[in-house]
Amino acid sequence: MAQANDIAIDLGTSNIVIYMKGKGIVFREPSALAIDRNTQNIIAFGAEANRMTGRVPSNISIIRPLAQGTMIDFDLTNAMLRYFVSGVVGRRFLSRPRAVMSVPVGIKDIEKKALISAMFDAGIRRTQLLDKNVAAALGAQLNFLGSYGCMNVDFCAGCTDMAVLYNGSVSVMSSVKIGGNQLDEAIVRYLRKKYNLLIGERTAEQVKISLGGAVQRDPAIVMDVTGRNLLSGLPKTMRINSDEIYEALLESVNDLIEGMQVMIERTPPQFASDIFEGGVTLTGGGAALYGLAEAIEKVLGIPCRVAEEAKDCVVLGCAKVLNEPAGVRHLLSDV
Ligand SMILES: Nc1ncnc2c1ncn2[C@@H]1O[C@H](COP(=O)(O)OP(=O)(O)OP(=O)(O)O)[C@@H](O)[C@H]1O
Ligand SMILES: [Mg+2]
Repeated sequence: MAQANDIAIDLGTSNIVIYMKGKGIVFREPSALAIDRNTQNIIAFGAEANRMTGRVPSNISIIRPLAQGTMIDFDLTNAMLRYFVSGVVGRRFLSRPRAVMSVPVGIKDIEKKALISAMFDAGIRRTQLLDKNVAAALGAQLNFLGSYGCMNVDFCAGCTDMAVLYNGSVSVMSSVKIGGNQLDEAIVRYLRKKYNLLIGERTAEQVKISLGGAVQRDPAIVMDVTGRNLLSGLPKTMRINSDEIYEALLESVNDLIEGMQVMIERTPPQFASDIFEGGVTLTGGGAALYGLAEAIEKVLGIPCRVAEEAKDCVVLGCAKVLNEPAGVRHLLSDV
């Protein structure tokens, strides 16, 4: 029976997002924790752990247990999930809510089972899993329950997951190791090489969001970027323009589009022609990269749109199954 505190959860490699029935998105934290290496104790979770990045004493490590779509550390993932989920649903054992959860594409069945048992320990009576590609497509309002082929591209932090879906399931899928983090790294490399200017990941992300693009901005825009001059070792501020950041991102963006092309080539012809007609939908935080849809349309010659609420499509897709199970219940699995 449905309960008021049933939840939908996107267990992402960089962020965990939780939706609660009737309330909407109630929780969003980085999938990170901080460990004391001497005692092996966990000392912080989520945003608090993330804030320690780069400024922690040497006995503390910051761990992202789900980096790049694979579970690097199983026990830590479970501990993190238990901590976050029990914090959201509260430990009320008489009302054990239900959950629909999407997990990174690459994880194995045995890992899925352990996650479900971690959810049980966190107070969730029953957890059902939804394929992440299916969740993203549902959240993007794609209609793939019929025999018409649809393509969704989820551009996340650590990778980009792509899928062609029809008849309510995934027909062809692929994942490329280019996500927002790789774009940030490309900006760091570019500024170091061109100006001997070393910037941190956070600054690179701001530069990407403010100046970055998959097409050139016209007119170009500029931003003052502060980093460390590698020759003098001193802080230095430089005025960087959007054409430079476009150049820095070009190779990664091209690799991403090439990955899409390869997947379309692997798609059975009847669905490939549906995609040429119906186009591609972009989801994930990276879908907001300036001009990405335009660049894809230009190179691949197929229509491309950014989904509404692109960065939350995975959790909203899980929420959809939670709220309107009729017609989509068959998409779920219990493992
Ligand atoms: N306006 C923007 N332009 C370009 N990139 C952006 C923009 N806004 C957010 N991003 C990027 O989107 C990425 C985060 O996307 P998203 O929230 O989908 O990732 P995630 O769900 O945490 O990843 P995962 O599913 O791997 O856990 C970050 O790399 C962020 O820098
Ligand atoms: Mg995600």
